[in-house]
Amino acid sequence: NNNVARYFDTMDYGPAPESDTDAREWLARHAEGFGHFIDGRFTLAAEGAHFDTAEPATGQRLARIAQGSAKDVDAAVAAARAAQPGWFALGGHGRARHLYALARMVQRHARLLAVVEALDNGKPIRETRDLDVPLAARHFYHHAGWAQLQEREFADQVPLGVVGQIIPWNFPLLMLAWKIAPALALGNTVVLKPAEFTPLSALLFAELAAQAGLPRGVLNVVTGDGATGAALVAHEGVDKIAFTGSTEVGRLIRTATAGTGKSLTLELGGKSPFIVFDDADIDAAVEGVVDAIWFNQGQVCCAGSRLLLQEGIADDFIARLKRRMQTLRVGSPLDKAIDMGSLIDPTQLERVRSLVAAGVREGASCYQAPGALPPGGSFFPPTLLKGVQPASTVATEEIFGPVLVTMTFRTPDEAVALANNTRYGLAASVWSETIGLALGIAPQLQAGVVWVNATNLFDAGVGFGGYRESGYGREGGREGCYEYLKPRAWAQRKPRADDVAVVAANEAADARNETPLALPAIDRTAKLFIGGKQVRPDGELSSSVFAANGQRAGEVGTGNRKDIRNAVAAARSASGWSSATPHRRAQALYYLAENLSARAGEFAARIASLTGVAAKAAQAEVDASVSRLFAYGAWADKYEGTVHVPPLRGVALATVEAIGVVGVVCPDEAPLLSFVSLLAPNLAMGNRTVIVPGEKHALVATDFYQVLETSDLPGGVVNIVTGPAAGLVRTLAEHDDVDALWVFGAKELSRDAERLSVGNLKRTLVDHGLATDWHDLASGEGAVFLRHATQVKNIWIPYGE
Ligand code: NAI
Repeated sequence: NNNVARYFDTMDYGPAPESDTDAREWLARHAEGFGHFIDGRFTLAAEGAHFDTAEPATGQRLARIAQGSAKDVDAAVAAARAAQPGWFALGGHGRARHLYALARMVQRHARLLAVVEALDNGKPIRETRDLDVPLAARHFYHHAGWAQLQEREFADQVPLGVVGQIIPWNFPLLMLAWKIAPALALGNTVVLKPAEFTPLSALLFAELAAQAGLPRGVLNVVTGDGATGAALVAHEGVDKIAFTGSTEVGRLIRTATAGTGKSLTLELGGKSPFIVFDDADIDAAVEGVVDAIWFNQGQVCCAGSRLLLQEGIADDFIARLKRRMQTLRVGSPLDKAIDMGSLIDPTQLERVRSLVAAGVREGASCYQAPGALPPGGSFFPPTLLKGVQPASTVATEEIFGPVLVTMTFRTPDEAVALANNTRYGLAASVWSETIGLALGIAPQLQAGVVWVNATNLFDAGVGFGGYRESGYGREGGREGCYEYLKPRAWAQRKPRADDVAVVAANEAADARNETPLALPAIDRTAKLFIGGKQVRPDGELSSSVFAANGQRAGEVGTGNRKDIRNAVAAARSASGWSSATPHRRAQALYYLAENLSARAGEFAARIASLTGVAAKAAQAEVDASVSRLFAYGAWADKYEGTVHVPPLRGVALATVEAIGVVGVVCPDEAPLLSFVSLLAPNLAMGNRTVIVPGEKHALVATDFYQVLETSDLPGGVVNIVTGPAAGLVRTLAEHDDVDALWVFGAKELSRDAERLSVGNLKRTLVDHGLATDWHDLASGEGAVFLRHATQVKNIWIPYGE
């Protein structure tokens, strides 16, 4: 009786432990250690090097894990390669059946998976049970659907082949599902490398998948640390790397894959803002903060780690938040009544501790939820740092722990500026009861996901991924499917009779006997085109351009670093183009097309004389270029987003946004058509460009100045810098105000573009000789380049009951 009375007094919870019997039995069956899962079976546990993993919540040894060597990676890639054609040949429906089987398998073993995950990671069973596992199942169901529809919905696409996937420790099973479900659904085979801290759910999944009849070689799991990951990245037999983890490792992988022709998607860190306006539902927003930063101990790439409060409500909000913090319970992950478990490892604990200490040294005041922490593991209390400076370490670095920093703002503009004051751009959360305010802010935020009056919502049907240094690529939904496909035309690229450029090249041979069209004997010296004006190159240098018959055709300016910088600055300030309506952009493109068409004869003559192709081929190239401008004009207001309907209260508006400033380096081949093919999709989608024309026939591009000058494009939207490509590519790649870089032409240029773009992790689209194609009509005037010219922002809004 006394006891009952006492419980009523304190309203305390008793422990409500989940049973770990099955999980421990499964571990006991593997007591001598785990091998890798290759070609449908486990390698012998006794072979090769091993390491132990620990249970984060107790520090006790959990399992013995194989350290994958280059040889293991080799065997896994070979198995995946051998299995891929058969897996694709199974057809969409066949693969869908397997993915449904995997989804049901996850549901059947939900409890075991949830417990193994909680033991291995230290996160609360409540989260693995209610979130990680059901969402993983949902990913397999959703992508089974894409497999089923593949032949219809992605008829012009083919799988990439063998995909290497490297995942972190914060959501081991969920990240596995995010990675392998789309890859497998669309006909790729996989080599997965789980994080060294948390390989268990992947091994359990592989074991269950084999039982569920997944054909051998389709999914391979190689465990190990960063060295194993690096071996996978370096492997020649891998067609794509999909990575989730730290920005630092993302950069290493970008560098390692540069110039290899491998596709790459990166899902990296964040420092996401959580913005609360004074008209928000404060209690709901406080609850939102709890989910934003204390979910998964704050070890969430999109954690709302920067709380931005409108001044008038700041004190009240902080007071209510502190009260709420006092009720958060930190404890054993298997206790169903706790809110927070253990951090992943003592090294992470130390990192979080030292960052908090740095915050305090920098002048922040620190509040931590009171109460004793459980002994043993890597526990850290919910923490709030107040009074931090926007430029301080804790306000700019990803802490990746349960630590929230808070700052205040006065106006919506200030909120946007503060929110975007980060090199990351993964997610953002906006709280206001005024729909106009919230939806007015959402498009201004540099983030791949925006939640309105919500936070940390995820669904398989809604794309997830970053802007800026949070990486590129999307996971989930239709947009995520494209990350595991490539256009059929690119895959099969070989000279086709109807390619304009190929016709041109073929005809070049017989044209030698034909007299080229006469050119006026004017020796033109073309300048650069920057900010809507022709300007002299900074270095006051020009170089001669020769016609096909060897005669000097004129001079073009030799652009340098400074010219590129000026061009980027002009493009940067022409931001109005990115917010112009699609209707406005469509009109500008039609007008460009008409202007070019009016000068068709002049351009054809120039092309014929410079490249030596026959008059007919030159005319065909101009016609194709005019057609391209019209086509992208048509697309401008038709390539748009979609509304996702996740199984949660709300909808997600997948909006298509311009990337910003795009550097474009054109090949020598088909000088007008390549220039227009790479420029027009960028214009259509609202990007501002700095274009380097193919060096050899640059006069074709400089002739285009007149077309631009008579157009109604604002100055700075198209900037043209002629000169030797190698140096200009370097400057563009290293420039932090260039958001994406397209490089076509010599292989070395592609490699440099990818290798040197790691600074701000700009998105690159390169032509590795044969990989990326603008020639054929389907890709050259289709949605393919539009996809590369845009980024998708998913804005989740409350909707319906
Ligand atoms: P990490 O980025 O080093 O590890 C992620 C994965 O990459 C692991 O599977 C790892 O084995 C692998 N890896 C490491 N080095 C590699 C290399 N050179 N080549 C290929 N693969 C490699 O992350 P880590 O060390 O576990 O955590 C460090 C910090 O990274 C955290 O404190 C956090 O700030 C951040 N992080 C961010 C994540 C996110 O989702 N944004 C996830 C995990 C960590």
